[in-house]
Amino acid sequence: MDAHQFLVNSSLQFIEKASFTWQTPSNIALVKYWGKSEPQIPKNASISFTLNNCHTITTIEFKKIEKSDSVQFDMFFEGKKNEDFKPKIAKFFQRIAAYCPYIFEYKMIIHSQNSFPHSSGIASSASGLSAIAMCLTSLEQQLIPALNSDFVTKKASFLARLGSGSASRSIEGPLVVWGNHPEIEGSSDLFGVPFPHTIHSIFENYQDVILLVDKGEKQVSSTVGHELMYNHPFSENRFQQANENLTKLSKILQNGDIKNFINLVESEALTLHAMMLTSNPYFILMKPNTLEIIQKIWKYRSENQSNICFTLDAGANVHVLFPENEKQNVLQFIENELANFCHKNEYICDSVGFGAKKLENIKVK
Ligand code: PMV
Repeated sequence: MDAHQFLVNSSLQFIEKASFTWQTPSNIALVKYWGKSEPQIPKNASISFTLNNCHTITTIEFKKIEKSDSVQFDMFFEGKKNEDFKPKIAKFFQRIAAYCPYIFEYKMIIHSQNSFPHSSGIASSASGLSAIAMCLTSLEQQLIPALNSDFVTKKASFLARLGSGSASRSIEGPLVVWGNHPEIEGSSDLFGVPFPHTIHSIFENYQDVILLVDKGEKQVSSTVGHELMYNHPFSENRFQQANENLTKLSKILQNGDIKNFINLVESEALTLHAMMLTSNPYFILMKPNTLEIIQKIWKYRSENQSNICFTLDAGANVHVLFPENEKQNVLQFIENELANFCHKNEYICDSVGFGAKKLENIKVK
């Protein structure tokens, strides 16, 4: 599939007004995407667990207007008009305009809320932009009734990707691959696809507890972060390594080799941070408490024959990953030994989820 397939070629059957509400999750990458080229094409394939509890719910009300030269929208976040988010969303609309010409024909009132605290350091762009993408494709489906749902799902991921690369992995679940990879059938640089193989039962309902070490604004924005990979001395090796890691992880996810899962996932997290440590300008995104937590996780793992491990985003928070059968013990360990390294002792218990959900008869206000 190339991007042209997502252009609108059919005639549109305009309606006066419509409203859609979607709940879309955040995701956590196991093999990381870090480095891209225009237009939002990843330098390597990545794979993530779709989350369940960390999500955005967005309603978009569409009202037909005379065709306009600019996109007309108002943005409300958690009940209040929000001007701060508008530039990012306006930029997103510009990027997708060629694929969604109908956005010039409607005034859009966007109401959005997150299940997780804003500025918790949890990336809200993946859930936020995928929710908008789902609302837009719901409208498109009404305007072109012949569209099939497989195409609509791919297009939603395609649009979300143009807003934020990792958002392409927030439409489906429980594991989504984004980026063309020779061993993942159907994979594409343009949109995310569900991991195509049967997953070993040990990875079913996998748990992710997000330890909120630092709740401030991101120290390095994604845009700046991806740019660090241009002229980076290790970038080509890193892109190759990530693709090889996805080959290995694909086997691990099928055969349940959890020891190698732990090794690969932790190595990916540290490599992401190593890329930032060795770029120019350079950044240290971990905080002292990030390292304290990692040491504690390693100690707990060896003393308890546990399969707990960690991964990191481009920040100081720690995602603690473990199989469901360890839930009781690990939650106790987190509460007793890790919570005090978190900002205000806060952490979020999550687990793997299944992607975007349409909410009927609900409107975010
Ligand atoms: O989607 P972006 O541009 O915010 O990049 C996200 C990059 C990481 O979260 C660090 C890794 C990933 O694959 O999600």
